[in-house]
Amino acid sequence: MDPRELLARLREDLAEAGYTVDGVQELVGDVASRALDREQALPALRAAERAGGPASVLLRCCTLGREVTRAEVDAALPRTGTDGAAALGLLAAAGAAPGDAVRPLVDLRPYRVDDGAGDGSPADWWLVSDLGELATGRALAPDHVLGVGGASLTLARATVRTPVGSVLDVGTGCGVQALHAARHARRVVATDTSERALDLAAVNAALNGVALDLRQGSLLEPVADGELFDLVVSNPPFVITPRREGVPQYEYRDGGMSGDSLVRRLFAEVGGVLAPGGVAQLLGNWEYHGEDDWAQRLEGWLEGTGLDAWVVQREVADPALYAETWIRDGGQKPGAAFDELYAAWLDDFEARGVTGVGFGVVTLRRPVAGPPTLRRFEEVLSGVDDPLGGVFAAGLVAHDRLAVLDDEALAGTALRVAPDVSDERYHAPGEPDPRVVLLRQGGGLRRVVQADGDLAGLVGACDGELTVGQVAAGLAVLLEEDAPALRARLLPRVRDLVRDGLLLLPPS
Ligand SMILES: C[S@@+](CC[C@H](N)C(=O)[O-])C[C@H]1O[C@@H](n2cnc3c(N)ncnc32)[C@H](O)[C@@H]1O
Repeated sequence: MDPRELLARLREDLAEAGYTVDGVQELVGDVASRALDREQALPALRAAERAGGPASVLLRCCTLGREVTRAEVDAALPRTGTDGAAALGLLAAAGAAPGDAVRPLVDLRPYRVDDGAGDGSPADWWLVSDLGELATGRALAPDHVLGVGGASLTLARATVRTPVGSVLDVGTGCGVQALHAARHARRVVATDTSERALDLAAVNAALNGVALDLRQGSLLEPVADGELFDLVVSNPPFVITPRREGVPQYEYRDGGMSGDSLVRRLFAEVGGVLAPGGVAQLLGNWEYHGEDDWAQRLEGWLEGTGLDAWVVQREVADPALYAETWIRDGGQKPGAAFDELYAAWLDDFEARGVTGVGFGVVTLRRPVAGPPTLRRFEEVLSGVDDPLGGVFAAGLVAHDRLAVLDDEALAGTALRVAPDVSDERYHAPGEPDPRVVLLRQGGGLRRVVQADGDLAGLVGACDGELTVGQVAAGLAVLLEEDAPALRARLLPRVRDLVRDGLLLLPPS
């Protein structure tokens, strides 16, 4: 049978079996679900065995990597059957008898899509990738194709989901970013150096009824000269790895270059495939070569690119922590081999004077016309799980609108305080006036801005009716302050609050 027809059948079977994120959660319960998130299989296995049923069979086999029987798979996937799933390369059966063992050849998991794209409604997908350590109990192979990990989710949640014509996904792996992009783009091109990754991405596209243009090659090479995109997304192989014999190189995380050169290359080259106004969003690691110099280094990478840039650093690791994390990620247990790798990483960092490694979300944009106007480097290290695509989209729009509003025009604008902002006041016991006033964003990047009484008073009066200038004049009378001086002091703060989404401009 045509593989596309088989995959369509499989999709129906998986949905009917209740093998969805919600279905699995219901099947195994909260404790086992959280354990599974920590890569611990046992609680989920015990709960699934106890519960039984089609979703239990699929979870045990396709996520947890356990053997089940042909009869169980035939019952769980009635349209596809064991033979159909085997023909697709998903499973291998030991024989034709109902009691014969069936083992998984790949990881096949449900994935909940809730990115606000398209009409905003969530969807249930299934994604095929290579079996991980959870299922095999072994270290990963160098050509391992990754499923959806923490970094994949970070990028998917950070991506601006405005409807666009074309998207390029660089380093597509199992295709997750490209599939998301297909929800809000007419055309999606996805590239990878790994043939196996592209094969699995093709399966995932067909399984989820999506069309992708898959191309093999390094970074931007597979893109034709002059081919431009409205959005480029990339969760590239950014992990900094010593280039030394004996250090395993995993295709999914290591692009084979020294230090953070691969991310630097993307900064330098991505502008060449961006249409005017086009946005590139990528994840990356960058080295610190001194005290807290990350922003200066990245600023240097942007020189001559002509691109706007907004970088949000989310994590910083010292060299030892970084090395431990990635050695463990490869499945290496503590011992002599671990220490050998540890030494290689530390040597590599010492050779370049690396004092730390940052991780973050990079948003680059080709201006529609003229030179770049946006250079923003900030650290947001607290836990932010919300989808941030809307925050980046709104931040770019606010930047552009503020760029053409001089102070006089801003003072003449009626702003509105964003609905998720609250005002927190901290008083010393018995004192009527607050010592500290904080404006706290409830969503997005959850910014907290310290405000003095007059700024908090101005924000509180921003109801979309009075202009900033009118509110400032009223405050000056109330506080018996010099009106022009108060206005001049408040306007830059107001500008920052608009830029950060605590105050909203009227619709344009
Ligand atoms: C971290 S994975 C990201 C997979 C997927 N996009 C996601 O978000 O989960 C990086 C991918 O980049 C691929 N890759 C490695 N070197 C590459 C290169 N030079 N050019 C393009 N892709 C590369 C790997 O094969 C892997 O699939």
